[in-house]
Amino acid sequence: MAENDGDLWVFGYGSLVWRPDYPYIARRAAWIEGWERRFWQGSTDHRGVPGAPGRVVTLAPDAGGVCWGMAYLICAADCAAVMAHLDHREKGGYRLFDVGLNFADAPDAPETPGLAYVAGEDNPNYLGPAPLHDIAAQIRASAGPSGDNVEYLLRLAEALRGIGAHDEHVFALETLVRAG
Ligand code: SIN
Repeated sequence: MAENDGDLWVFGYGSLVWRPDYPYIARRAAWIEGWERRFWQGSTDHRGVPGAPGRVVTLAPDAGGVCWGMAYLICAADCAAVMAHLDHREKGGYRLFDVGLNFADAPDAPETPGLAYVAGEDNPNYLGPAPLHDIAAQIRASAGPSGDNVEYLLRLAEALRGIGAHDEHVFALETLVRAG
């Protein structure tokens, strides 16, 4: 894999981990530091509807946090089209943040710059923290144009397991939703 000027790394930690629907030239399991993944973002366009939002993940700043996900290298020639596509897909409150990527297959290498979509507290769909049981109940009850909210959670948990990543928040919700 040759990385050329203008190629861009995009880091996915939610649906982008398991549903990349854009061209990329490399895909590598990676982690970022200083963030934690949380089901704190409301979804009215994918896993819920206006008035009955589902819950999807965003990143919350956390000094000691580590978040595993999947990094995709987008070829310079495709960047404009891919980022326009992703801006539309993530339009429900996310905006791009700079992140530093640590690759599972090169853990000691210096961080590589990349971008991630983060839904901050200031976006209109932000729901914020809630007891895990309440989050699980909301996930069980929600569905939207992209499908059931439960599918989003279970596929994310499965994909994280597939790259050997442990995420207490995601796995605890998975257990609660399966039990429900
Ligand atoms: C992401 O996957 O990186 C952003 C959140 C989502 O689309 O689920």
